[in-house]
Amino acid sequence: MATTTQQAALVETSKRLAAFQAVKDHLLPEYTRIGIGSGSTVVYVVEAISALGPAVTSRMAFYPTGSQSEELIEAAGLNLQYISKLPAGQQLDVAFDGADEVDDDLNLIKGGGACLWQEKIVAASAKRFVCVADFRKLSPRLGTAWKKGIPIEVLPMAAPRVLDELARMGSQNPRVRPGLPGKAGAIVTDNGMWMIDAPFAPLLLPKDVEDGSETGSGTNSVWTVDALADRLIKIPGVAEIGLFYGKNGLEVAAGAQKPVAAYF
Ligand code: 5RP
Repeated sequence: MATTTQQAALVETSKRLAAFQAVKDHLLPEYTRIGIGSGSTVVYVVEAISALGPAVTSRMAFYPTGSQSEELIEAAGLNLQYISKLPAGQQLDVAFDGADEVDDDLNLIKGGGACLWQEKIVAASAKRFVCVADFRKLSPRLGTAWKKGIPIEVLPMAAPRVLDELARMGSQNPRVRPGLPGKAGAIVTDNGMWMIDAPFAPLLLPKDVEDGSETGSGTNSVWTVDALADRLIKIPGVAEIGLFYGKNGLEVAAGAQKPVAAYF
Protein backbone atom coordinates (compact mmCIF):
# COMPACT_ATOMS: atom_id res chain seq x y z
CA MET A 1 0.00 0.00 0.00
CA ALA A 2 1.54 3.32 -1.09
CA THR A 3 1.90 6.00 1.56
CA THR A 4 0.52 9.48 0.91
CA THR A 5 4.05 10.69 0.18
CA GLN A 6 4.66 7.86 -2.30
CA GLN A 7 1.30 8.52 -3.98
CA ALA A 8 2.12 12.25 -4.29
CA ALA A 9 5.51 11.40 -5.80
CA LEU A 10 3.84 9.03 -8.28
CA VAL A 11 1.42 11.74 -9.36
CA GLU A 12 4.24 14.24 -9.92
CA THR A 13 6.22 11.65 -11.89
CA SER A 14 3.14 10.94 -14.00
CA LYS A 15 2.54 14.62 -14.73
CA ARG A 16 6.17 15.14 -15.69
CA LEU A 17 6.34 12.06 -17.93
CA ALA A 18 3.08 13.00 -19.63
CA ALA A 19 4.28 16.58 -20.19
CA PHE A 20 7.66 15.59 -21.65
CA GLN A 21 6.00 12.97 -23.89
CA ALA A 22 3.35 15.46 -25.07
CA VAL A 23 5.99 18.08 -25.96
CA LYS A 24 8.13 15.48 -27.71
CA ASP A 25 5.20 14.26 -29.82
CA HIS A 26 3.29 17.49 -30.47
CA LEU A 27 5.68 20.46 -30.46
CA LEU A 28 7.11 20.42 -33.96
CA PRO A 29 10.29 22.49 -34.50
CA GLU A 30 8.63 24.48 -37.29
CA TYR A 31 5.86 25.73 -34.98
CA THR A 32 6.05 29.43 -34.10
CA ARG A 33 2.95 30.13 -31.94
CA ILE A 34 2.30 28.01 -28.86
CA GLY A 35 -0.53 28.30 -26.29
CA ILE A 36 0.40 27.60 -22.68
CA GLY A 37 -2.39 26.65 -20.27
CA SER A 38 -2.63 26.82 -16.48
CA GLY A 39 -2.15 24.51 -13.53
CA SER A 40 0.53 22.36 -11.98
CA THR A 41 0.89 19.95 -14.95
CA VAL A 42 1.64 22.81 -17.33
CA VAL A 43 4.66 23.69 -15.20
CA TYR A 44 6.22 20.47 -16.51
CA VAL A 45 5.15 21.32 -20.08
CA VAL A 46 7.12 24.56 -19.83
CA GLU A 47 10.07 22.68 -18.30
CA ALA A 48 9.99 20.26 -21.27
CA ILE A 49 9.81 23.14 -23.76
CA SER A 50 12.70 24.98 -22.05
CA ALA A 51 14.76 21.79 -22.22
CA LEU A 52 14.65 22.02 -26.03
CA GLY A 53 16.99 24.99 -25.70
CA PRO A 54 17.07 28.44 -27.29
CA ALA A 55 18.04 27.10 -30.72
CA VAL A 56 14.47 25.77 -30.95
CA THR A 57 12.46 28.00 -28.61
CA SER A 58 13.81 31.42 -29.65
CA ARG A 59 11.85 31.18 -32.91
CA MET A 60 8.63 30.55 -30.98
CA ALA A 61 6.13 32.84 -29.24
CA PHE A 62 4.15 31.64 -26.23
CA TYR A 63 0.57 32.71 -25.48
CA PRO A 64 -0.66 32.46 -21.86
CA THR A 65 -4.13 31.63 -20.51
CA GLY A 66 -3.92 33.96 -17.53
CA SER A 67 -1.62 35.48 -14.96
CA GLN A 68 -0.22 32.14 -13.75
CA SER A 69 0.97 30.96 -17.16
CA GLU A 70 2.13 34.48 -18.02
CA GLU A 71 4.50 34.33 -15.02
CA LEU A 72 5.55 30.80 -15.97
CA ILE A 73 6.47 31.82 -19.52
CA GLU A 74 8.38 34.88 -18.32
CA ALA A 75 10.23 32.96 -15.59
CA ALA A 76 11.37 30.41 -18.19
CA GLY A 77 12.75 33.24 -20.34
CA LEU A 78 10.43 32.34 -23.23
CA ASN A 79 8.99 34.91 -25.63
CA LEU A 80 5.64 36.07 -24.17
CA GLN A 81 2.91 37.22 -26.55
CA TYR A 82 -0.82 37.87 -26.10
CA ILE A 83 -3.76 36.30 -27.87
CA SER A 84 -5.40 39.76 -28.07
CA LYS A 85 -2.58 40.75 -30.46
CA LEU A 86 -2.95 37.70 -32.70
CA PRO A 87 -4.46 39.12 -35.91
CA ALA A 88 -7.87 37.89 -37.09
CA GLY A 89 -7.49 34.99 -39.48
CA GLN A 90 -4.37 33.65 -37.74
CA GLN A 91 -4.10 30.73 -35.35
CA LEU A 92 -1.75 29.23 -32.82
CA ASP A 93 -0.03 26.07 -34.08
CA VAL A 94 -0.74 24.17 -30.90
CA ALA A 95 -1.95 24.76 -27.33
CA PHE A 96 -0.95 22.62 -24.33
CA ASP A 97 -3.11 22.55 -21.22
CA GLY A 98 -4.05 20.37 -18.27
CA ALA A 99 -7.50 19.14 -17.22
CA ASP A 100 -9.36 18.18 -14.09
CA GLU A 101 -11.05 15.18 -15.70
CA VAL A 102 -11.07 13.46 -19.12
CA ASP A 103 -13.88 11.10 -20.20
CA ASP A 104 -14.04 8.22 -22.71
CA ASP A 105 -14.80 10.63 -25.59
CA LEU A 106 -11.98 13.01 -24.53
CA ASN A 107 -14.40 15.64 -23.24
CA LEU A 108 -12.80 17.62 -20.43
CA ILE A 109 -13.67 19.34 -17.18
CA LYS A 110 -11.39 22.35 -16.73
CA GLY A 111 -11.35 25.35 -14.44
CA GLY A 112 -10.12 23.86 -11.17
CA GLY A 113 -7.60 26.69 -11.18
CA ALA A 114 -10.21 29.33 -12.15
CA CYS A 115 -8.59 30.06 -15.54
CA LEU A 116 -11.11 28.38 -17.82
CA TRP A 117 -12.35 31.37 -19.80
CA GLN A 118 -8.95 32.38 -21.19
CA GLU A 119 -8.03 28.69 -21.48
CA LYS A 120 -10.99 28.09 -23.77
CA ILE A 121 -10.18 31.13 -25.90
CA VAL A 122 -6.56 30.03 -26.33
CA ALA A 123 -7.58 26.40 -27.00
CA ALA A 124 -10.13 27.47 -29.60
CA SER A 125 -7.49 29.69 -31.24
CA ALA A 126 -5.16 26.75 -31.82
CA LYS A 127 -5.05 24.36 -34.76
CA ARG A 128 -4.31 21.57 -32.34
CA PHE A 129 -5.11 21.24 -28.64
CA VAL A 130 -3.06 18.86 -26.54
CA CYS A 131 -4.40 18.01 -23.12
CA VAL A 132 -1.76 16.74 -20.70
CA ALA A 133 -3.24 14.67 -17.92
CA ASP A 134 -1.93 12.28 -15.26
CA PHE A 135 -3.56 8.92 -14.58
CA ARG A 136 -5.93 10.26 -11.89
CA LYS A 137 -7.79 12.42 -14.38
CA LEU A 138 -9.14 9.60 -16.57
CA SER A 139 -12.66 8.36 -16.03
CA PRO A 140 -15.46 6.93 -18.19
CA ARG A 141 -17.88 9.80 -17.44
CA LEU A 142 -17.20 13.40 -16.37
CA GLY A 143 -18.14 13.89 -12.74
CA THR A 144 -16.82 10.49 -11.64
CA ALA A 145 -13.27 11.45 -10.64
CA TRP A 146 -13.69 15.24 -10.29
CA LYS A 147 -16.44 15.55 -7.69
CA LYS A 148 -16.14 19.25 -6.91
CA GLY A 149 -18.52 20.14 -9.74
CA ILE A 150 -18.35 21.79 -13.12
CA PRO A 151 -16.52 25.12 -12.82
CA ILE A 152 -18.60 28.00 -14.16
CA GLU A 153 -17.30 31.58 -14.48
CA VAL A 154 -20.04 34.09 -13.64
CA LEU A 155 -20.65 37.80 -13.38
CA PRO A 156 -20.65 38.39 -9.57
CA MET A 157 -24.02 40.22 -9.53
CA ALA A 158 -25.65 37.23 -11.25
CA ALA A 159 -24.28 34.56 -8.88
CA PRO A 160 -27.45 34.05 -6.75
CA ARG A 161 -29.66 33.75 -9.85
CA VAL A 162 -27.22 31.31 -11.48
CA LEU A 163 -27.15 29.18 -8.29
CA ASP A 164 -30.98 29.04 -8.32
CA GLU A 165 -31.05 27.92 -11.95
CA LEU A 166 -28.35 25.28 -11.37
CA ALA A 167 -30.37 23.82 -8.48
CA ARG A 168 -33.46 23.70 -10.76
CA MET A 169 -31.35 21.82 -13.31
CA GLY A 170 -30.48 19.14 -10.75
CA SER A 171 -27.05 20.27 -9.55
CA GLN A 172 -26.46 19.02 -6.02
CA ASN A 173 -25.32 21.87 -3.78
CA PRO A 174 -23.82 24.29 -6.32
CA ARG A 175 -21.75 26.95 -4.59
CA VAL A 176 -19.63 30.03 -5.13
CA ARG A 177 -15.94 29.09 -4.88
CA PRO A 178 -14.34 30.72 -1.82
CA GLY A 179 -11.17 32.80 -2.03
CA LEU A 180 -7.74 31.29 -1.56
CA PRO A 181 -6.72 30.51 2.06
CA GLY A 182 -6.45 33.73 4.04
CA LYS A 183 -8.60 35.66 1.55
CA ALA A 184 -12.20 36.39 2.56
CA GLY A 185 -15.08 36.24 0.12
CA ALA A 186 -15.26 34.63 -3.30
CA ILE A 187 -12.34 33.83 -5.55
CA VAL A 188 -11.94 36.51 -8.23
CA THR A 189 -10.71 35.37 -11.64
CA ASP A 190 -8.22 37.14 -13.92
CA ASN A 191 -11.32 38.53 -15.66
CA GLY A 192 -12.87 40.01 -12.49
CA MET A 193 -15.51 37.25 -12.34
CA TRP A 194 -16.49 34.68 -9.70
CA MET A 195 -16.44 30.91 -9.98
CA ILE A 196 -19.34 28.59 -9.21
CA ASP A 197 -18.74 24.85 -8.81
CA ALA A 198 -21.82 22.85 -9.81
CA PRO A 199 -21.81 19.09 -9.06
CA PHE A 200 -23.98 16.97 -11.39
CA ALA A 201 -24.37 13.21 -11.60
CA PRO A 202 -21.73 11.81 -14.02
CA LEU A 203 -22.50 13.02 -17.54
CA LEU A 204 -23.72 10.72 -20.29
CA LEU A 205 -22.08 10.25 -23.67
CA PRO A 206 -23.95 9.91 -26.99
CA LYS A 207 -23.24 6.16 -26.96
CA ASP A 208 -25.15 5.84 -23.67
CA VAL A 209 -28.23 7.43 -25.20
CA GLU A 210 -27.95 5.69 -28.59
CA ASP A 211 -27.79 2.19 -27.18
CA GLY A 212 -30.24 3.00 -24.40
CA SER A 213 -27.71 2.08 -21.76
CA GLU A 214 -27.91 5.29 -19.74
CA THR A 215 -29.34 3.37 -16.82
CA GLY A 216 -26.59 0.77 -17.32
CA SER A 217 -23.97 3.52 -16.97
CA GLY A 218 -25.09 3.66 -13.34
CA THR A 219 -24.99 7.45 -13.23
CA ASN A 220 -28.71 8.24 -12.81
CA SER A 221 -27.86 11.28 -14.90
CA VAL A 222 -30.30 13.08 -17.11
CA TRP A 223 -27.62 15.15 -18.84
CA THR A 224 -25.31 14.37 -21.71
CA VAL A 225 -22.15 16.49 -21.90
CA ASP A 226 -23.45 18.38 -24.96
CA ALA A 227 -26.95 19.00 -23.60
CA LEU A 228 -25.66 20.26 -20.26
CA ALA A 229 -23.05 22.50 -21.87
CA ASP A 230 -25.63 23.99 -24.26
CA ARG A 231 -27.97 24.71 -21.34
CA LEU A 232 -25.34 26.10 -18.94
CA ILE A 233 -23.89 28.60 -21.39
CA LYS A 234 -27.36 30.09 -21.93
CA ILE A 235 -27.96 31.01 -18.27
CA PRO A 236 -27.87 34.81 -18.04
CA GLY A 237 -24.75 35.89 -16.14
CA VAL A 238 -22.67 32.85 -17.13
CA ALA A 239 -19.50 34.02 -18.87
CA GLU A 240 -17.99 30.60 -19.69
CA ILE A 241 -18.17 27.01 -18.54
CA GLY A 242 -15.49 24.44 -17.75
CA LEU A 243 -16.80 21.78 -20.12
CA PHE A 244 -14.46 21.47 -23.13
CA TYR A 245 -16.08 19.25 -25.71
CA GLY A 246 -16.36 18.65 -29.44
CA LYS A 247 -18.50 21.62 -30.26
CA ASN A 248 -15.79 24.05 -29.23
CA GLY A 249 -13.89 23.02 -32.31
CA LEU A 250 -11.08 21.56 -30.25
CA GLU A 251 -9.00 18.74 -31.62
CA VAL A 252 -7.79 16.55 -28.80
CA ALA A 253 -4.75 14.64 -29.91
CA ALA A 254 -5.17 11.09 -28.66
CA GLY A 255 -2.05 9.22 -27.66
CA ALA A 256 -0.99 6.04 -25.97
CA GLN A 257 -1.54 5.58 -22.27
CA LYS A 258 1.61 4.83 -20.34
CA PRO A 259 1.61 2.84 -17.12
CA VAL A 260 1.96 5.99 -15.05
CA ALA A 261 1.16 8.68 -17.57
CA ALA A 262 -1.55 9.53 -19.98
CA TYR A 263 -1.53 12.29 -22.47
CA PHE A 264 -3.93 13.34 -25.17
C1 5RP B 1 -7.10 25.60 -14.52
C2 5RP B 1 -7.24 24.29 -15.23
C3 5RP B 1 -6.12 23.32 -15.04
O1 5RP B 1 -5.61 22.95 -16.27
C4 5RP B 1 -6.68 22.12 -14.31
O2 5RP B 1 -7.25 22.55 -13.08
C5 5RP B 1 -5.61 21.06 -14.05
O3 5RP B 1 -4.69 21.54 -13.11
P1 5RP B 1 -3.51 20.62 -12.55
O4 5RP B 1 -2.58 20.37 -13.70
O5 5RP B 1 -2.89 21.44 -11.47
O6 5RP B 1 -4.12 19.36 -12.02
O7 5RP B 1 -8.17 24.01 -15.91
O8 5RP B 1 -8.24 26.39 -14.71
